[in-house]
Amino acid sequence: MTRNPVAKLLLFGATGDLAQRMLLPSLYNLHADGLLPEDLVIIGAARSDYTDESYRAFAKKALDQFLPKDRDEDAVGTFLPRLQFQATDLSDPASYQPLAEKVGDVSGGVAIYLSTAPSLFEPAVKGLEAVGLAGETIRIGLEKPLGYDLASSKEINDTVALGFSEDRTFRIDHYLGKETVQNIMALRFGNSFFEPVWNAQGIDNIQITISETVGLEDRAGYYDGAGALRDMVANHMLQLLALIAMEPPARYDVTEIRDEKAKVFRSMRLIKPEDAPRCTVTGQYAGGASAGKIVKGYDEELGKPSTTETFVAIKAHIDNWRWQGVPFYIRTGKRMPVRRSEIAIQFKNVPHSMFAGRGGLLQPNMLVIRLQPEEYIQLLVMAKEPGLDRDGVRLREVPLKLSLDAEFQGTRRRIAYERLLLDLIEGDQTLFVRRDEVEAQWTWIDAIREGWTANGMKPKSYPAGSWGPSAAIALTERDGVTWMDD
Ligand code: BG6
Repeated sequence: MTRNPVAKLLLFGATGDLAQRMLLPSLYNLHADGLLPEDLVIIGAARSDYTDESYRAFAKKALDQFLPKDRDEDAVGTFLPRLQFQATDLSDPASYQPLAEKVGDVSGGVAIYLSTAPSLFEPAVKGLEAVGLAGETIRIGLEKPLGYDLASSKEINDTVALGFSEDRTFRIDHYLGKETVQNIMALRFGNSFFEPVWNAQGIDNIQITISETVGLEDRAGYYDGAGALRDMVANHMLQLLALIAMEPPARYDVTEIRDEKAKVFRSMRLIKPEDAPRCTVTGQYAGGASAGKIVKGYDEELGKPSTTETFVAIKAHIDNWRWQGVPFYIRTGKRMPVRRSEIAIQFKNVPHSMFAGRGGLLQPNMLVIRLQPEEYIQLLVMAKEPGLDRDGVRLREVPLKLSLDAEFQGTRRRIAYERLLLDLIEGDQTLFVRRDEVEAQWTWIDAIREGWTANGMKPKSYPAGSWGPSAAIALTERDGVTWMDD
């Protein structure tokens, strides 16, 4: 892969929460490891009135707070001078000229990182274009939300395309920056023994869970207009599903991988309005206890009644040869009992049990890929309990567990944003989402929302600290499948 590093990084939202928690610490780490282009200048932009000097102090404070350990003070000392600041109001056309002057010469390449409300994409792209910050040498990274349905996403994509061609547009899904998510490809395509059973003949069902213990956090303005389906399923969960379901790409390459993912999205069966009540469940957390703390219900946190879902469970299908008849159960929620991202693949039962006549009970094999907080791969396999078998053969499911944390102990686990920022700076789009992927994702999501509206479906209440409304349990139990909850 040829690297094409830029000379400047323009960071919008440079004083926001994401910048403090993730972007500045990630950039510092890359700097400390000597991975940033030597002369890279980082220009922060936000509405606040910082100078270069006071923004460096701001960044230092963010590092103190969010990267208190594993820091090399000398490296902090050489990192901070890379930072500059320009007060910018994206909605004010007069803001762009001073910004362009601050950025200066763009011939060495500029990477823009834009994280903003959907309503500001248009003024931002037009403003950047007007002052020469959208030309051939300039690429743009876009943080979600990239719209709230297919129509608005198309509008944003069209607007962005006015200034930036697709090969200069980097749509961020931070799940793709996670090491364990990339590891799904290593597991599937770096080993020969999974692939022959990785299909409807070998697999009974697949579960994907992203559970979180946090609630609304201070994000009411965004979250209440989004809800769990748009916030988590439309991007992160569908990306996980695609990596699990896609055909083997011929090469580890930006086009091959994204082509295969896009094919999965296009093959997803649209949920018809009449099927929405049977195939989807929505919930909203009420008061309860989560992660050992008494917590308020969503409405109370928000300060007003709302019909926004904080939990969603869906039974999805992929209509192609490989996956015909295999349900993909997806669920995600806030204020669940634990924080966990996991994929559980349940294989088919053996075609005939030779142990049945001797009392031995078999469970189907299960492969669990735990993405976070721990990182492991666990295969549940049947084994014979030691004994003389005089009262029958006793079989038990035992775990064959590969802890990636332990195996790669001592190898630095990088923040997802380190990977994504570096790829943006160097121009590698492999782990960014292409326009056709995003639009196919929204097409599937919109069909679900239409079903909710057509059926007047409102989220069912669930106590904080539980696994969602009981209907979510029924969603799988109807098919004789139990969610992996422990
Ligand atoms: C974000 C969502 O994209 O992902 C948040 O907007 C969610 O609501 C977060 O909390 C989860 O990310 P992670 O990396 O903590 O699993």
